[in-house]
Amino acid sequence: GQALNNLKKSAEIKVTDLTATLEGVASEKSFYGDLTRPSEPIELGSRHPISLVKNQIIEVFNRIGFTVSEGPEIEDDWHNFTALNLSEHHPARDMQDTFFIEQNPDILLRTHTSSVQVRYMEENKPPIRTISPGRVFRNEDISARSHCIFHQIEGLLVDDNISFADLKGILHNFLNVFFERDLQVRFRPSYFPFTEPSIEVDIGYQGEDGEQKWLEVLGCGMVHPNVLKYVKIDSKKFQGFAFGIGIDRLAMLKYGINDLRAFFETDYRWLSHFGFDPLDVPTNYIGLSK
Ligand code: DAH
Repeated sequence: GQALNNLKKSAEIKVTDLTATLEGVASEKSFYGDLTRPSEPIELGSRHPISLVKNQIIEVFNRIGFTVSEGPEIEDDWHNFTALNLSEHHPARDMQDTFFIEQNPDILLRTHTSSVQVRYMEENKPPIRTISPGRVFRNEDISARSHCIFHQIEGLLVDDNISFADLKGILHNFLNVFFERDLQVRFRPSYFPFTEPSIEVDIGYQGEDGEQKWLEVLGCGMVHPNVLKYVKIDSKKFQGFAFGIGIDRLAMLKYGINDLRAFFETDYRWLSHFGFDPLDVPTNYIGLSK
C-alpha cells in the first residue's frame, strides 16, 4: 500500500509539472501565432540581363575549352597598366579615366578586365585558355550610352602555333552563336598597347534607309611580346591573342535596350521581363587562387 501511494504521488507531481510546461508553450504559441502554419511564399527573382548575357558568353567559350578566372576590382598600377605595356607616362593611360584610391604607389579601381590577363599569366603557364568576367570602373558621365560602372569579359589564349586566323575564327564563331544568326563581321585595325596588331571588331547591319552600317562590339589583338615578357612567358616559343567584350553593350544589342541606365535601376517589373532559367548557371567555374 505504501509503495503504491508513493508511486501515485510521484505520478501526480509529474502530471502537474507537465501541465505547467505545456500551458507555458500554449501561451508562447499565441504570442508567435500558429507555429505549424505554412510560411508566406517567397517570390522567385529573375536573373539580371547582365548576368544572363555574361552566362551566355561563358557558355559559348566553355564549349571550346576556356575556363573562367576572376581578379580583384581594386587593382594596383602593375596589373592594370604597367604589365600591360602602358608605361608610366603612356598617353593611352588618359583614355581610361581612372578612379584612384591612393596615389604613389597607385591603388585604383580597375579600368578594364585586362588586368586579370596579367594575374592569370603570373600564376599559369601555357597552354592558356581563359575568360575573365567582371565589373570595371571609369570616371565617365552617366548617360544612356555610358556609365562609370560597366562590365567586361576578357579573353586570353596563349599556346604555341597560334595565329591571327585562330583569333578571327573564334571571335566570328562566338558572335554568330551569341546572336543566333550568320553575321557580317568586320575586323578593323586599331590600337591597344597590350596587343600588336590590334583590331576592333564591328558587326554589320542594314540601317533604316537600307544602307550598310557597322557597330563596334569588341577590341582584340595578338598579345604584345612585352606583356609576355613581364609575366615571364617566352615570346619566342609562345604567342596568343586577347580580346575584351563589353557585356552591357552586347546585352543592349541582344535585347534591344536603348538606355544603359535601366541596368542599374533595380526595377523589378523591368528586370522580370528577362526570365529565369535555373539551368543557365555556368559550369567549369574556377576563379583565381588569390
Ligand atoms: N581593355 C580594352 C578596353 O577596356 C579592351 C581590350 C582590347 C581588351 C583589346 C583586350 C584586347 O584584351 O586585346 O578598352
